[in-house]
Amino acid sequence: MSGSNPISESTVAQAVAAALAAISGATDLASLRSAKQATVGEQSEISKLNAQLKALEPEHKAAAGALIGKARAEINAAFSSKEEQFAAAEELAKLSAENVDMTAVAMRVPFGARHPLSLLQDQISDVFVGMGWEIAEGPELEHEWFNFDALNFDADHPARAMQDTFFVEPVESHLVLRTHTSPVQVRSLLERELPVYVLCPGRVFRTDELDATHTPVFHQVEGLAIDKGLTMADLRGTLEHFARIMFGAEAQIRLRPSFFPFTEPSAELDVWHPGAKGGARWVEWGGCGMVNPNVLLAAGIDPEIYQGFAFGMGIERTLMFRNDVRDMHDMVEADIRFSQQFGVNL
Ligand code: DAH
Repeated sequence: MSGSNPISESTVAQAVAAALAAISGATDLASLRSAKQATVGEQSEISKLNAQLKALEPEHKAAAGALIGKARAEINAAFSSKEEQFAAAEELAKLSAENVDMTAVAMRVPFGARHPLSLLQDQISDVFVGMGWEIAEGPELEHEWFNFDALNFDADHPARAMQDTFFVEPVESHLVLRTHTSPVQVRSLLERELPVYVLCPGRVFRTDELDATHTPVFHQVEGLAIDKGLTMADLRGTLEHFARIMFGAEAQIRLRPSFFPFTEPSAELDVWHPGAKGGARWVEWGGCGMVNPNVLLAAGIDPEIYQGFAFGMGIERTLMFRNDVRDMHDMVEADIRFSQQFGVNL
């Protein structure tokens, strides 16, 4: 052998071992790349050995070159396989992060629910619209004349008394919060062409304390039919049809003599409620009668030519005995859990 060869197998093997250790110690692509730079880059041990090739005696060059080439190949292969490993792991992490769980329970946005009084009011309106009647409305802040005088209430009728009616100041304005939906009868007669068949649902006001069965603000529905030749039989037939849709095919109605200033004759309306909680029974439902000629005269209608009937009932009361709602507070408080029991009904 002439001259020494610094590129011995053991030197190269040492450099390779250090490089492989650095590569296998890498924890991700970034640290792998810097390990590569350090082990095969310009400043690496292998590159330094490679630089010494030129200075070698010719007889050593080939063997040393082959040794370094093999070392480089070994390091590069280790690097590539580690790089593949990291790339695959990274791909997997990305895919599982994007994974959609088809079995997951969807987030539910809770629906609201319409108030059962609104639903019942609509249902009642539908019954009458189905018979060709029209829906009429009037103001909640009403003139005393419509609320009382035109309906044939005497000046000293007890219903006008302070304990029932919300009078609106100044008293000279003669405005009240309407105590019933009956004033819409007179407004409809003044506004419409005869014959008139109207249903008037709406809010009414009385000076009652809120308790289990009373509320100062409640709802009524008023019916009015004025035509030629209407009789009490028409009133009965209409109410019977209405009752059967509200309470079932076995429902019946009963009229008991009564008094209202705006009807003559007048009657209390009872309904035989087959589905009543605790067994079928008669329940007081509302008032009705043949429209008093004085009401027709107040609206400028000749009672010799036109006659008709009227009826009125409370919507809260109807809901209470129809759906077994025991406490008025449930209807006033607007707790969504109460409304939802009647269905969402959007
Ligand atoms: N307006 C009456 C009330 O509030 C109810 C009523 C009774 C309406 C008889 C009518 C009727 O149309 O004919 O108590």
